[in-house]
Amino acid sequence: MSRALGPEAPAAPPVEPEHAIDEAGGTTAQHAERASVDTTVFDGVRDRATAIVARYPQPRSALLPLLHLVQHVEGHVSRAGIAFCAEVLEITTAEVSAVATFYTMYKREPVGRHLVSVCTNTLCAALGGDDIYAAVRERLGGIGHEQTSADGTATIEHAECLAACDLAPVLTVDYEFFDKQTVESAVEIIDALQRGEKPHPTRGAPLNDFRSVELLLAGFFDDPAVGGLAAVAGPSAAEESLRGARLAEERGWTAPPVPDEGGSA
Ligand code: FES
Repeated sequence: MSRALGPEAPAAPPVEPEHAIDEAGGTTAQHAERASVDTTVFDGVRDRATAIVARYPQPRSALLPLLHLVQHVEGHVSRAGIAFCAEVLEITTAEVSAVATFYTMYKREPVGRHLVSVCTNTLCAALGGDDIYAAVRERLGGIGHEQTSADGTATIEHAECLAACDLAPVLTVDYEFFDKQTVESAVEIIDALQRGEKPHPTRGAPLNDFRSVELLLAGFFDDPAVGGLAAVAGPSAAEESLRGARLAEERGWTAPPVPDEGGSA
């Protein structure tokens, strides 16, 4: 049933051919723009891209790991990376850009050999996170948020809560944790990275580098290129995090029952 209209609506202007949506969900102009970008830098990972897409019933669901694969190749999501994802998934570059600019793990500028994320959220800040961030950025040459040191060693960023408040203040290097930091210990980590060393994270897997971790995040966990399964091995839970659960078990504490839909416990 059609809706009754008031006074006759003005006719819509004709759609220019280059703006018409085609079967692939994009306009002719968008496909032309996509085709004009050179994506040959990704030729070496096209098989991996195909393997990622095969994991999902719908190709577009593969976008997040595919963007990590792009960062493995280029260290950030470039215009070519966006065109590559659009091409592989047969979606528009606008759709890829919308996702790539929404999540902070996708970088718009090239990241250095390592990504240093200093938590400056409430609890870490109260326990020294801001001082640690200031000391780290000074050690890297006075750079700012999402900037890279002149020698390419590291990119620094403010991080929101890294879900390790019981171990605050914390920082991560390439997403591996360094717990209970001080200004001095954080500066030592930076010095080691600048010497080309890979200091041991407090817990979790051994340190690698940003681009290698991006291959892991694309879902290639046992790839020899990043050290095989050893690259993801390592205990990730800290004693401090387990203590509460152990106490609750010893004392028979349980979580309150979830109220049913009627609101009674
Ligand atoms: S506030 Fe830093 S880990 Fe939660």
